[in-house]
Amino acid sequence: MIFKPAALLVTGGAGFIGSNFIHSFMANNHRCTVTNLDCLTYAGNLKNLTALEGNPNYRFVKGDIGDASLVARLLAEQKIDAVVHFAAESHVDRSITGPEIFVRTNVLGSQVLLEESRKHWQSGSVADFRFLQISTDEVYGSLGTTGYFTEGTPLAPNSPYSASKAGADLLVRAYHETFGMPTLNTRCSNNYGPYHFPEKLIPLLIHNIINKKPLPVYGDGLNIRDWLHVRDHAVAIETVLKKAAPGSVYNIGGNNEWKNIDIVNLVCDLLDERLGRACGENRTLISFVKDRPGHDRRYAIDASRLKDDLGWGPAYTFEQGIAETVDWYLANQEWVAEVTSGAYREYVATQYGGGVS
Ligand code: NAD
Ligand code: TYD
Repeated sequence: MIFKPAALLVTGGAGFIGSNFIHSFMANNHRCTVTNLDCLTYAGNLKNLTALEGNPNYRFVKGDIGDASLVARLLAEQKIDAVVHFAAESHVDRSITGPEIFVRTNVLGSQVLLEESRKHWQSGSVADFRFLQISTDEVYGSLGTTGYFTEGTPLAPNSPYSASKAGADLLVRAYHETFGMPTLNTRCSNNYGPYHFPEKLIPLLIHNIINKKPLPVYGDGLNIRDWLHVRDHAVAIETVLKKAAPGSVYNIGGNNEWKNIDIVNLVCDLLDERLGRACGENRTLISFVKDRPGHDRRYAIDASRLKDDLGWGPAYTFEQGIAETVDWYLANQEWVAEVTSGAYREYVATQYGGGVS
């Protein structure tokens, strides 16, 4: 049975993955309304969504997932039948220097959203309902040189970020087990693509190379991540939302493992060519720096359950995806400049009377 949502509440839709998901979902689902609830932290950028201004099926609400009365009102007023929950503090390095906001948003905020969703679902005002928690492979901890994370791998988070995501995942599980709430949970590997905030590895590299700034590589650069194009992730989320059985958990991955240093070299070389620099010139910017505390060594996802049950697989090859991503950043230098200068905050202020949090 395919679940066909009529009114989606997307949280954190002004961020990297949320904005890509809204673009992708709205292009495929013309009759579904989308309400985007985002409190616009430093990572929320309405410029990611300007193409949707004036679309009658799209509505942006500036607000916090931890605001129970606002969430309750939106669920009821908009007759929401599916919540897709992206809103989070998402950067591991920030969670090391300031873990408290990670617990507040990722654990307590998610609990408020779950609780208001439970009341709304139990009120019977919508015929069917789904709550989809967007999570990360980082909840499983770190792998050695072999093996893959499956959905059965025990949760063993190592950073305050991944611990807070695991906390939310466990609450989602509990709401399904205790109340029978129709929840879904996806756990994805590292994403890359357009609208990625340049504090994360790939956009940081592109930005620093263009500006001839050092490229910080943590530790020995041999940590491994499994990279997935954000648009493939968006399609996977839509697939799970529509086709997965309530209560299920799905891993999402690109089957695309890379050592960090190999990604750094690849992006350097692509940009040597794009920027007309000498072969090897950008690699001279590489700077090995002190390692991240508790730095997970390797992530690798077994996404075969998603392929076998629901037929999803990535469409992008990494060669195509990374080349397109580099080209997107080169073509959107204004977006990057506004993000790095903080000017995108002024755009938010013009829309919300200066009331940015
Ligand atoms: P992001 O940091 O780019 O965006 C997060 C968004 O959430 C921002 O728009 C921010 O304003 C909003 N937000 C934060 N706190 C909020 C609150 N209290 N109320 C309302 N909105 C709030 O993050 P992202 O990279 O797009 O990640 C989205 C989700 O996907 C997160 O839950 C993250 O854990 C998960 N995830 C990310 C990756 C990745 O590679 N980026 C991989 C797997 C899973
Ligand atoms: P990141 O993009 O922060 O994602 P995550 O920590 O969630 O995997 O980092 C990806 C990898 O790149 C991770 O192993 C840390 C490393 N890294 C660097 O070596 N230098 C950097 O400047 C950053 C931001 C990350």
